[in-house]
Amino acid sequence: VTVTVPRDAVALGLGADRIARALFAGAERRGLDLTIVRTGSRGLLWLEPMIEVATAQGRVAYGPVTQGDVEALLDAGLAEGGDHPLRLGDPEKIPYLARQHRLTFHRCGVIDPVSVDDYRAHGGYRGLEAALRLGPEAVVGAVRESGLRGRGGAGFPAGIKWNTVMLAQADRKYVVCNADEGDSGTFADRIMMEGDPFCLIEGMTIAGIATGATRGYIYCRSEYPQAFRTLQEAIANGVAAGVLGDDVLGSGRSFHLEVRLGAGAYICGEETSLLESLEGKRGIVRAKPPIPALKGFLGRPTLVNNVMTFTAVPWILEHGAAAYAAYGQGRSLGTLPIQLAGNIKHGGLIEYAFGITLREVIEDFGGGTRSGRPVRAVQVGGPLGAYFPDSLLDTPLDYEAMAAKNGLVGHGGIVVFDDTVDMAAQARFAFEFCATESCGKCTPCRIGATRGVETMDKVMAGIRPAENLKLVEDLCEIMTDGSLCAMGGLTPMPVMSAITHFPDDFTRGGDLPI
Ligand code: NAI
Ligand code: SF4
Repeated sequence: VTVTVPRDAVALGLGADRIARALFAGAERRGLDLTIVRTGSRGLLWLEPMIEVATAQGRVAYGPVTQGDVEALLDAGLAEGGDHPLRLGDPEKIPYLARQHRLTFHRCGVIDPVSVDDYRAHGGYRGLEAALRLGPEAVVGAVRESGLRGRGGAGFPAGIKWNTVMLAQADRKYVVCNADEGDSGTFADRIMMEGDPFCLIEGMTIAGIATGATRGYIYCRSEYPQAFRTLQEAIANGVAAGVLGDDVLGSGRSFHLEVRLGAGAYICGEETSLLESLEGKRGIVRAKPPIPALKGFLGRPTLVNNVMTFTAVPWILEHGAAAYAAYGQGRSLGTLPIQLAGNIKHGGLIEYAFGITLREVIEDFGGGTRSGRPVRAVQVGGPLGAYFPDSLLDTPLDYEAMAAKNGLVGHGGIVVFDDTVDMAAQARFAFEFCATESCGKCTPCRIGATRGVETMDKVMAGIRPAENLKLVEDLCEIMTDGSLCAMGGLTPMPVMSAITHFPDDFTRGGDLPI
């Protein structure tokens, strides 16, 4: 009997190792021949740890399981998919999962993440095989035709960036994966790196073949030790299996990959700061131009993409650009890995075609707030994203539609707040976050964020609130126009959206003259 127990950070935090040990011990006592396979997560986080048993009728899931449930599960005939209050049935039929468009994440939670054989048995490396047949121009053409845009947040057309690096002339080129997933409420990169690292490795290898880079780096945030270890293990297994190294899949092409650990700075998710850090320097933003595609790591042409951008590519090459572009709408094509978090009943990962509305995500998938109170505000796109009120929840998740409402898709993180939220405190938090995380290179951000906190304190204390609120608005204008990067440039987005959509929260203190 084979039982899968997740080994991703969430499941481990909820006792997955203890569950695995209890299963093993319980099976031994019963003389049951049990094999435990450690997988990643399927992303149904409120059901974690979710374990699955392989039966003749297919997989049967149980969750959320605790160590204390294991004996009762074994007594109930877990090995045959027996009945128990925690039995969820066929995991693929759980509506949350069944309704999704799982192109990129279809293997997550299913396979052993560090096994090349398991990866290949589930369709892995078909994209790279196609890339090796097609050659660089056709690969870049496919990425362009798929409509894939940078999933890190900016939404820059991936095909154009890949083309720039492919055409650049240099003695060496690099492929760098931005895995510094710093946005609050985001975890898609982590789930992928912990659940299907070979998908990222394959995507980066395809990028190397397409652009002429023979070396790649994954810059992983230090808060993801489990992802870091999983990547290291996968890379070592990949080299041993000949899918990485001097002779990729027997093609004669070489691609070497290393994973590097960040040191806890949000700004190192900004690509130029990341490159500085990768070079061993302090993570300070570089002025652009030159763009990294032309002058990046060690001054060489460097393709910097997010985990989600690279991991979309194997599917595109296996199934064709048109098949990918058939998902989504307008200029937002393909699928978006949405991460639903905050005050929500069913938080988790939802891969879905662009165009689904915020309300559909929050109500149909999320099941409303965990507190049971009404939704009041929803922040989309991380700490630099806008807060949307209920009246904007019918906005589709699509780069242009979100921008039209002064918001952003960002990395696809959605954080839900109920009606107890104080939006003035959230606006203050945006400034505070920026003051803490600013790299300090430019004045509007370095000084502006600190002045923003002080001025918001006055607004919240009721000290000449109208006058101080006007100062906050002026400050936001200067930060938007004068900051060197998105950190200072986008901090005004959550602040101004809170002021615009929730004005009452900014006048509560009353106009106390001092
Ligand atoms: P950007 O618009 O400056 O650049 C986007 C990308 O396109 C960069 O890689 C840039 O080098 C490249 N590029 C621009 N022009 C090019 C050209 N002509 N040829 C080739 N490549 C070109 O945006 P930036 O500053 O890289 O990212 C800002 C975004 O990051 C924000 O919108 C925000 O949503 C997101 N973000 C994501 C976070 C996360 O944890 N994933 C955290 C914070 C922000
Ligand atoms: Fe650094 Fe902030 Fe300026 Fe960005 S906006 S370069 S984080 S000081």
